[in-house]
Amino acid sequence: MSNKMWGGRFETGPDAIMEEINASIGFDQRLYAQDIAGSKAHAAMLAAQGIITASDAEKIAEGLDTILSEIEAGSFTFQRSLEDIHMNVESRLATLLGAPAGRLHTARSRNDQVATDFRLYVRDTVDTLDTQIADLQQALSEKALEHAGTVMPGFTHLQTAQPVTFGHHLLAYVEMLGRDRGRLRDARARLNECPLGAAALAGTSFPIDRFATALSLGFDRPTANSLDSVSDRDFVLETLAAASICAMHLTRFAEEIVIWTSPLVGLLKLSDRFTTGSSIMPQKRNPDAAELVRAKIGRIAGAFSGLLMVMKGLPLAYAKDMQEDKEGAFDALGTLSLMVAATAGMVRDMVPDEAKMKAAAGSGYSTATDLADWLVRVLGLPFREAHHVTGRIVALASGKGVALHKLSLEEMQSAEPRITAEVFGVLSVSKSVASRVSYGGTAPKNVRAQAKRWLKRLAKG
Ligand code: ARG
Repeated sequence: MSNKMWGGRFETGPDAIMEEINASIGFDQRLYAQDIAGSKAHAAMLAAQGIITASDAEKIAEGLDTILSEIEAGSFTFQRSLEDIHMNVESRLATLLGAPAGRLHTARSRNDQVATDFRLYVRDTVDTLDTQIADLQQALSEKALEHAGTVMPGFTHLQTAQPVTFGHHLLAYVEMLGRDRGRLRDARARLNECPLGAAALAGTSFPIDRFATALSLGFDRPTANSLDSVSDRDFVLETLAAASICAMHLTRFAEEIVIWTSPLVGLLKLSDRFTTGSSIMPQKRNPDAAELVRAKIGRIAGAFSGLLMVMKGLPLAYAKDMQEDKEGAFDALGTLSLMVAATAGMVRDMVPDEAKMKAAAGSGYSTATDLADWLVRVLGLPFREAHHVTGRIVALASGKGVALHKLSLEEMQSAEPRITAEVFGVLSVSKSVASRVSYGGTAPKNVRAQAKRWLKRLAKG
């Protein structure tokens, strides 16, 4: 049997393989709510414009509501022979209503319909992600406030560099996530135009009101060019690009969690709730959630580059290639949501080993810069010379196998005779972090203020 939605000029139905490669209902049934909302808005507009009767529009709306509850109750039978969500819904509507159902597709095509549905879906998903990322920022900011003064080593090249505080480190991620939310919001603002009414590609001769449908679906305005409306998928790409960047941020933190919780390092403890055991080694507490956050970016970046390849070189307007826009995006956006939730869970439960952090912060001559700064500030040495003098003192301490503050004043003076005992005041890690008061610096009072600023901002929503 040929397809009852478009089979007029066909004598036979499709080959089984044709049906298999062509059908999208397996994955696009997820768009049912958006598809029904779009159809209801379209039908109401057609009636308001006198293109269909008010009574037909009413029947269509009721029928669509019935279908919505059938799908949500799990009693709807999706048919692969009907290809996609659009035709599954419309075919069921025809069964329910008879002739009036056939009027719904006036002045539209599946091309503008799917573009509208997908924009609505991505918009909803971006809104949910925004809330979830804000929750992760909340967890990080609370932990940062609690640990505004918890000294830990700061690293460059993963080598101990200068002491920082754990709170400061956590707030670095709050900043990144703030930009991630901004990128997602930007994508949302650009995607919020309604393609419905662009029809197949050229617009329609019916006197439709695209502004009305756009408004009733919560869009800012209709899209301005019918060809662009049905062939654009950059809204998905932009969202996936923003999602990839956000995921990348999460993987950096995940990697730090993996390193810091290693027994070799031991700066951090995860809760039982976010670790797993080994079936053979009873002592193990594996950071699986962090490892999976680290790994799952592949799906998101993969979906982005996959769709970029689908769209590359595709001539205007719609081509069936574009049906490949959905599976990867669904998976990627769902994956990011899971990564964010798992990271928030880990953060809320994590406990730093404060003593170990402090000890690690003091090893590796992390206050050498403080010594150099003291030479500049107190003795008036040019920084380059102070750097050199400090290097000699570090070499001395390293030769003896002791920390900087364990050297005697005489030993210090062998490198620079004008050094006084006052220098020992800047060599502790606590003094070091307390002195970093420049805006954005790691001094606990700065960190406290920044954490509070974020908590206030997050409370505003
Ligand atoms: N399932 C299709 C998709 O996702 C809907 C649009 C079909 N349009 C068409 N002209 N065949 O792209």
